[in-house]
Amino acid sequence: MKRKIRMGMIGGGPGAFIGEVHRIAARMGGQIDLVAGVFGRDPKKSREIADSLFLCPDRCYADYASMVAGELGLPVNERIDFVCICTPNHLHFPVSKAFLEAGFHVLCEKPVAMSSAEALALQKIIESKGLLFCLMHNYSGYPMIQQARQAIADGMLGRLRKINVEYSLGWLAAPNAGKQASWRVDPKQAGISGCMADIGTHAQHLIEHVTGLKILQISADLSTFVEGRALDDDGSVMMRLSDGARGVIFASEVATGEENNFILKIYGDKAALEWRQQTPEELIIRSNDAPMQILRRGWPGTGEAAAKFSRLPAGHPEGFIEAFANIYDAFVEAIRSGKPGDYPGIEEGVSEMRFLEAVVANSNGNEKWTNI
Ligand SMILES: NC(=O)c1ccc[n+]([C@@H]2O[C@H](COP(=O)([O-])OP(=O)(O)OC[C@H]3O[C@@H](n4cnc5c(N)ncnc54)[C@H](O)[C@@H]3O)[C@@H](O)[C@H]2O)c1
Repeated sequence: MKRKIRMGMIGGGPGAFIGEVHRIAARMGGQIDLVAGVFGRDPKKSREIADSLFLCPDRCYADYASMVAGELGLPVNERIDFVCICTPNHLHFPVSKAFLEAGFHVLCEKPVAMSSAEALALQKIIESKGLLFCLMHNYSGYPMIQQARQAIADGMLGRLRKINVEYSLGWLAAPNAGKQASWRVDPKQAGISGCMADIGTHAQHLIEHVTGLKILQISADLSTFVEGRALDDDGSVMMRLSDGARGVIFASEVATGEENNFILKIYGDKAALEWRQQTPEELIIRSNDAPMQILRRGWPGTGEAAAKFSRLPAGHPEGFIEAFANIYDAFVEAIRSGKPGDYPGIEEGVSEMRFLEAVVANSNGNEKWTNI
């Protein structure tokens, strides 16, 4: 397939957060053209974005159902190859389903759906249609996260014992944090959880991605600190993982003053590692036999896994958007080859929904540990 891959987009209207990140990241590898979309519920605002992107007016659709029909009505060599879904959570399942059933590949924001039943239904469609599905767990696209995963697979840490992950944000500390905040605490649009669905799922995914372990049981305590919210804005989860490892997730959106303070610490019986998203180019390695070592992206000795996900020489910082672009690159490669590649997919989606359901059930009930 010697041509650019054609992308459509649902969401990402004026003032939206993550849609623009997707658009920049999709362009970064030079292999994707955005050719169609529905950039919001309001057709006028949607058209504003389409015009600013020089899209053909006929391909700025009124809603996602018209887009499916419109694209199917085009010759195959003009249709989108895949759609990117970056709407609030409640639309992830119906929009994914509609495009998959029509034969289009899908790249969707997390969380994949509103329930594990929906995630399993998507899995069935993906498998029966032989289509590709990418779930945007972008933190796995960071070079030093890939290096951490490789270090663990190579046995550098020995047997894993303890995994501590913190994701702290302060943006929901006050009651009126804006329109992006309001849908995140509305069960109809966000689902069964607020904070844990929004950022706890990133922690859950990164833990399983980097360590290769599965979270088997959890004990959770979700809180809603700001009065009037129907969903959690903070939570802690203790975890029992495969191979006897233990862990804790601390996620909060009311951690006053915090930015996106996402920290991963993994302790094995030989060594330990630490990664911080606010200094993403570094991976800290600790042991009891040598001084702390800091591996930095872009150096020959840092490792192949990081090098494969890097674009620039050391010292020219790469960050959040490049990590998204790395996931896009892997997905484009899969579309070209027709085979799934190394990016988060529907299995990770099923797993995140089971995790969320267990966390909510455990926090609401009296059970000490809940199986996932
Ligand atoms: N991977 C990440 O790091 C990350 C970061 C932020 C958000 N997200 C996820 O991305 C999604 C969007 O979050 P956001 O912060 O960008 O939200 P947002 O509110 O800023 O943007 C949502 C966009 O979807 C549009 N929309 C709503 N209904 C629509 C419809 N029926 N058809 C077409 N467009 C519609 C809105 O008009 C808006 O433009 C959420 O699922 C969120 O969990 C992921």
